[in-house]
Amino acid sequence: MNAQSRHLTRRQAVALLGTACATTSLGLAGCDSSDAFGTTHKISDYVLELPYKRDFKILQLTDIHLGNKDNRTLHYNFIDLTIRDANPDLIVITGDLFTFADKYTAKEVFDFFDGHRIPWTIAWGNHDEQCYFPIDWVTDYLNNYGSYCMFKDLGDDDVFGNSNHVINLMVGNTVKEQIIMMDSNRYNYGEYRGYDYIKQNQIDWYERLVTETTRNNGGSPVDSLCFFHIPFPEYADAWKEAQEGKAYAVLEYGEQNEGVSCPKINSGFFDKVLELGSTKAICVGHDHVNNWRIKYKGVYLCFGVHSTDRIYLKEDMLGGHMITIHEDNSLEFDHFYHDYSEVR
Ligand SMILES: [Fe+2]
Repeated sequence: MNAQSRHLTRRQAVALLGTACATTSLGLAGCDSSDAFGTTHKISDYVLELPYKRDFKILQLTDIHLGNKDNRTLHYNFIDLTIRDANPDLIVITGDLFTFADKYTAKEVFDFFDGHRIPWTIAWGNHDEQCYFPIDWVTDYLNNYGSYCMFKDLGDDDVFGNSNHVINLMVGNTVKEQIIMMDSNRYNYGEYRGYDYIKQNQIDWYERLVTETTRNNGGSPVDSLCFFHIPFPEYADAWKEAQEGKAYAVLEYGEQNEGVSCPKINSGFFDKVLELGSTKAICVGHDHVNNWRIKYKGVYLCFGVHSTDRIYLKEDMLGGHMITIHEDNSLEFDHFYHDYSEVR
């Protein structure tokens, strides 16, 4: 995909949803964007698209934490082991790509990912602001970057955070699956001291996205996957209740080696997920030594796999997490693990 075709794809995405809204009175009402966002943006402004292909493979990488002082070539070689294993159709990075990076380092890291000629995107983590550039700079840079980058964030909206966007996987003019990227934000210094949470206007944005997509799909919800960085409080509940043997909390894979590092406030995102019935799996990072998947109240709650050995680690828990979307919309989950001895 070259830059020209990528731009065409974006225009097609906007045209597709715009047409759907304009052709029904309900859709037209749904496209009046004067309420929750405080700007003239429509939901379709947040949407990019990719063609769905059979057994579509999404590789989740997380907590890469590259900075100026790292031997980045070593880490690139390590990440390449996982990308080669997965041979994905889309790479999703769930935050903490950087720690103490400057603009030169950031551009180099982006060039590394774009050089694979595989569509990729990112939701920011709490450490991505711990850099020698403001988060607005890196967000603006990615908005106009590369041939394979599928990142998009609207800087003048009132949806909190800097990486709220959507990738529709298309079959013809039909949305087969939505990849919903959200910014779980960084630190909260006001209501409490700790990791921040998904804000109400982001939940409103998610609800409007799902509601409009459902309406444009003839009233049937379209399946979606959500990717962001910080687990919400129900992740801690899921682990506890799975240990207690609750029927609605089934540990399907993995282990927990640290307590779930979630916000102190539950803003209600998971309740909205359950209410709307679109999202089938949620994938986060943040906890470097947790890699589990629990089917909790019907939704897969997943941790990714720490994708470098930066900051803190478990040596046998480094690599990547892959979600395959089959033609019948069923999901398959795979994990890839590697050791740094393979690249040293
Ligand atoms: Fe991290």
